[in-house]
Parts: sequence; structure tokens; C-alpha cells
Amino acid sequence: MVNVGQLLETRYRRPNPLQNPAQAKLLDRAQAAIDACLTRPAQRVSITTNPSNFRIAVLAERLTMISVCNQQVPFLALCPSEANFPDKIDPRKELTFSFSAHVFTGREYEVMDKALPLLEERLGDTMCLFELGDEKLSWDKGMEPADEFYYRTFYHPIVLEEMARMDLPQGSLVVDPGCGTGNLLWEIGRRFPHLKRLGSDLIELAAVQAQILNPGVPIYVTDAQELSYVELGTVSLFICCGLINKSVVTKAEAKNILHQIIVRSQNYGLLAVTGKSPPHFKRDEMIELGFWPLLVTKWDRGGFIPFGVYLIPRKIDHGGGRFQIVPVFNELKEESE
Ligand SMILES: C[S@@+](CC[C@H](N)C(=O)[O-])C[C@H]1O[C@@H](n2cnc3c(N)ncnc32)[C@H](O)[C@@H]1O
Repeated sequence: MVNVGQLLETRYRRPNPLQNPAQAKLLDRAQAAIDACLTRPAQRVSITTNPSNFRIAVLAERLTMISVCNQQVPFLALCPSEANFPDKIDPRKELTFSFSAHVFTGREYEVMDKALPLLEERLGDTMCLFELGDEKLSWDKGMEPADEFYYRTFYHPIVLEEMARMDLPQGSLVVDPGCGTGNLLWEIGRRFPHLKRLGSDLIELAAVQAQILNPGVPIYVTDAQELSYVELGTVSLFICCGLINKSVVTKAEAKNILHQIIVRSQNYGLLAVTGKSPPHFKRDEMIELGFWPLLVTKWDRGGFIPFGVYLIPRKIDHGGGRFQIVPVFNELKEESE
């Protein structure tokens, strides 16, 4: 039977912060900041911002945290309960949100800002304050230059940071099935020259640009729902950076793409998912679809962002032993004992 725990140790390494004295100390300070923050009475807060700046994530299945990015003064608070926000909000309009919460002071925020990256595995799904319908945009003309810049400067560095933890062996195959103009594939080549790369995009214009930027890397014009250019069972890492997201494909299309990913992934391959609009599937739906979540939210530049890293177990041992998953969701302290 495959020992998934051992496999993950090598495939995706997020060291236990309690084994590093400086990080353990930081977590103690974070615990003290949380305790102090909860001891103060909840206060009424009023924030005027674009709803997309509001992000909620639950830490260790207990603490609901609210971050608001792009504020002059960074904002992070603990909610007494699920905050009562309106369901349907137009994400394009600035609104004033009033709610009560335990707000971190500036000094506590500084501690949390450093500690939250160490606690990412314990964060639940990033919840946004608005739910987009299946408002799929047209990609015929390619990405808006502003979006392209945003992906390059915001999302790609995070994908690369997580890839550095994956420690993929020499010659491992990485596939970007909605590669756009190929910037991320190019960065992957520069940072991880030992990996093999393949890419594709639905739009010819984008794929041609990606090919010019990545000579020697096969780039195809293909719908990611049909990835016949990728051999079955061969991929170590699939990257969906702005692909299975609400403004890019429909939910049904996203499901078809995930099916392609499962059949073309190696056993226990990895999938990274992020993007500007919310991904179609939360953690529980991904489990139902056959993907095991190792990470669903990251803390980056003062806000929670949906960022998934999933393990793709293709052969579940239904025989003598059961499929084992490393206990990443256990309490940190239990793990280190
Ligand atoms: C938000 S952009 C992201 C581009 C790129 N992944 C990046 O990080 O810069 C979405 C890309 O997905 C492509 N796309 C949309 N639907 C697709 C599909 N069904 N199959 C493959 N690519 C698709 C679009 O053409 C566009 O290039």
C-alpha cells in the first residue's frame, strides 16, 4: 500500500513550524494576540470598500477571520459568529459594510501577518462576500492587459512559491491547460529548469504568444475539456491559474476539465488552483470530485486568497488497507508530539 504520508513528505513539503524555534515563538505570539483580541469586547465597524476586498476564512475550524485588503490601514478581525452580510452584492460597486467584530490592533496585526502564512494549512475555504453567477466572460480577444499584469504580479509568484515546496523530481511533467500568453510557463522554466512543461489555451491568439515566449515547449490550441495532447497518467502537476474559475468557464465545463485532469495525472499527482474570480468548487466539492485538499486558502499581502493545492489519488486501495492521508488537519501540537 502506498504511504501517502511519506509521499507527501517529498512531494509537497510544508515544514511543521513548531519544529523551528523562531516560528514556534511567533505562533505563541499569535496565540497571545488572538486571546487578547477576543478578550476585548466586539466593536461596531463600518468599512466602505469594494466587496471583492472582503475575505473571510475560518482558522482551525474555530475562529472566523475577516480580512479587508487594499485598505490604507490593514484590517483583520475575528468575528463573534458568522457575520450577517447581505447575500447578493454587486461586486463592482463600493459599499459600506457595518458589522461587529474583535479587531486586531496594529501591533497584533503585525504578528498575525507574519504568523498566518505558517497557519495556511489550517485555514478553511476563502469565502467572498458575493457569489457570482455563472457569468462567464468572453476570452476571444485574450486577457485585458491590466488582468495580465495582475496575474503576472500577484498570482504567478504565489504559484511559484508553492511549487518550490513541491520539490518535483527531475523530468516531472507540469501542464498548464489554460496558459494564456504563457507567462507562468516561462517563469516555471526559469525557476525550475529540471521540469518538463506542456501548455495549451482555447484561444489561438494566446497560444501563439505563449509559443513565442516559450520556444521548445509544446503549446497547443485546445479546450481544456479535451486534453488529448497529454498522455494518460503522466502529469505530476496541473496548474489551473484562472481556469476553473467562475468568470472563465461554466461549472459544467470546470467539471469536465477536472475529469481530464484526473485521468491524465500520475497517481498522487498534484493540482494547483487559483485565479481572480472564485474557483467553482470549494474544498468539500473537490473531495467529492476525487481531489484531496492539502491547502485551500493562502494569506498574502494582507488578505485571504483562494489557493488550492490538491493531491490526486487515482488508485484508492479498497483491499486490505485503506487509503491513507497524512493528518495535515490535526492540531499542530498533536502532530509535533
Ligand atoms: C484568466 S486567464 C488566465 C491565463 C493564464 N493561466 C495566466 O495565469 O495568466 C484565462 C485563460 O483561460 C483560457 N480559457 C478559457 N476557457 C478555456 C478552456 N475551455 N480551455 C482552455 N483555456 C480556456 C482563456 O483563453 C484565457 O487565456
